[in-house]
Amino acid sequence: MDTRRIDLCFPVAKVSELAARERRSAAAQPLPSFGKWWGRKPHSLIRAILLGCTPHEGDRESVLRRWMLALEQEELAKTDLSANPLGRVLDPFVGGGAVPWTCASLGVDFLASDLQPQSIFLTNASLQLGALSQDERQRLHGFLTLAYEEVQRRLHADGFTHDAGGRLMDMTLYHGRLRGVDCISSRRVDHRSKLSIIDGAFCTTDDPHAGGTVKHGRVLVDGEPVRFDHLRGDGLRPWDSEQVVGEQEEWQEIPWAIRVHEDGNRIWVVPTKDDVLRDQALTHFVERSLAGWFDEGLIPESAIPPGVETDRLSRERGWTHWHHLFAPRQLLQLVRFQEVIRSRARNEEERLVGALALGRMLNWNSRLCMWNRHLAKTEQTFANLALNPLSDFGVRSWPALKSAVLRKIPGHGGRTREASIADARSPGPAFDLCITDPPYDDAVHYDELSSFFSVWHQDFLPDAIPGESLESGDFATGLQESFQNLRARMRAGGRIVLMFAQNASSSWTDLAHAVEAAGLFVRAVWPVDLEPRPGLKRGRFGTLAVVVVLSIEEGPGAPDDPRAMALAAGLHDDDDPDRRAANLQACAGACALRRSALRGGDPSTHLRSILDELAV
Ligand SMILES: C[S@@+](CC[C@H](N)C(=O)[O-])C[C@H]1O[C@@H](n2cnc3c(N)ncnc32)[C@H](O)[C@@H]1O
Repeated sequence: MDTRRIDLCFPVAKVSELAARERRSAAAQPLPSFGKWWGRKPHSLIRAILLGCTPHEGDRESVLRRWMLALEQEELAKTDLSANPLGRVLDPFVGGGAVPWTCASLGVDFLASDLQPQSIFLTNASLQLGALSQDERQRLHGFLTLAYEEVQRRLHADGFTHDAGGRLMDMTLYHGRLRGVDCISSRRVDHRSKLSIIDGAFCTTDDPHAGGTVKHGRVLVDGEPVRFDHLRGDGLRPWDSEQVVGEQEEWQEIPWAIRVHEDGNRIWVVPTKDDVLRDQALTHFVERSLAGWFDEGLIPESAIPPGVETDRLSRERGWTHWHHLFAPRQLLQLVRFQEVIRSRARNEEERLVGALALGRMLNWNSRLCMWNRHLAKTEQTFANLALNPLSDFGVRSWPALKSAVLRKIPGHGGRTREASIADARSPGPAFDLCITDPPYDDAVHYDELSSFFSVWHQDFLPDAIPGESLESGDFATGLQESFQNLRARMRAGGRIVLMFAQNASSSWTDLAHAVEAAGLFVRAVWPVDLEPRPGLKRGRFGTLAVVVVLSIEEGPGAPDDPRAMALAAGLHDDDDPDRRAANLQACAGACALRRSALRGGDPSTHLRSILDELAV
């Protein structure tokens, strides 16, 4: 096959700019409207890779000019891709479905698979619904709107929608009490107004930690910081499956602030004795109903399996079943919503939009949703890539869940095609081009995290297959086996293009060994900063994704100059030293990968000398 554009050049700065723009615009990110997946890659990056896999014809400058133009103009991109068909594009680690969605939107043929049933459910749902006409998607949105309103009526009939003063509730903030000790990071409800509730009374204070007892991972007991595990002693008793709140003498959740609707505004009130009694009545109601809800399949009675992420749930809270991650009010909403969908949905698509909305409710309303005092709203459960029990959290009432339940259904304008469940190490159909973002060592435990959702989506999931997630097994060997399998399936002249977002040296040397063992050749590496605005995201994790281009044949490719790469990615301008160091580290790893392909030798030795060269 001819040399591809991406072998020789890449519009690094343009893709950086477009990815940052995409991150800031909800409209440019259609997939979160379907549901949560972790580590999604931006469409602008995938679009640039697709366009980069067309033949390199003409001089470098004119190739880049045309490429950048097509990145801004979708019609031009479609024209270029239909004039230079890429054949079949595969993503064997499809995750949340960004690669197939981008392919569908540009009329490119694709295949997609993943080991996690939840990933396949989400990907197929987005592909299926995204292919519908605007009218059909609008009609489904109308169905969801009616369902939302009916749930509101049913919850009202249950009698827990209003506070003791008769006002519609919007949000309740709880803090924990561990063996009688209050655990709360701050008693401030809103940073903008500096409003706090201390000792049951409102006050305004400049102290952002006003009344907080949790500091640096310890809790104050009589003014002295004590480690949580000391306070827990031998540990908390594991919850029974029928339990919905903790034991009084162990872990309790205390409502300390309520936001209610009054005269068209939302205002904070201090919970009264009656409010606390109403909260307890809601708990008793849910306790009494739970067995029936299990029987009807409205709440999954699924145990939390042991794991890297999940062990802390039982250690720190005593939670043993997935529904323990939801407070009584949240369980009631989940039940009423499913009842309405079951009784009102007339076809598969309506059931599907209901299941997706249920997933968004799970993400936006669990005991793991942190109160964001700056934005005066709760964060999603997966605000980071982990399952973190919190000392204080917020519970949304139904009106505050509207934005999670009712999301417009985006379209991709292309044809639908089914993704399938498969282990990336198993044989499968042939392909011409593979664009993928493999997992990285044990950075994200997709298998454990996705169970949070999948136990609620059992009716919609494809059957699981045996196979080990790369991130949970011997990563280096798994990656190597996947690449060997991909090489065997790739048609002559094809490319495997990775989007690799790791900075640890070991990830790069694992990758180098896997590439070499599979007999693949590194044609080019293109580090791209996906969040280039200095100061936008601070920290030690870095914001770089490296586009790694692999082929079976050796051939013309990109240079291996680390300084030029760092310069092209704009890394020297970064004013955050930690982030800059992390990004330079990734850049060095990428360059070592290319250098060992060009010059031979051990990738770790190249990496060390490149790190010296970049003065990291
Ligand atoms: C980094 S994520 C991909 C994210 C995706 N690029 C996106 O934009 O949403 C890696 C994926 O690899 C999947 N995975 C892990 N081990 C696998 C295996 N052995 N076979 C297939 N998929 C696997 C995980 O379930 C996860 O969805």
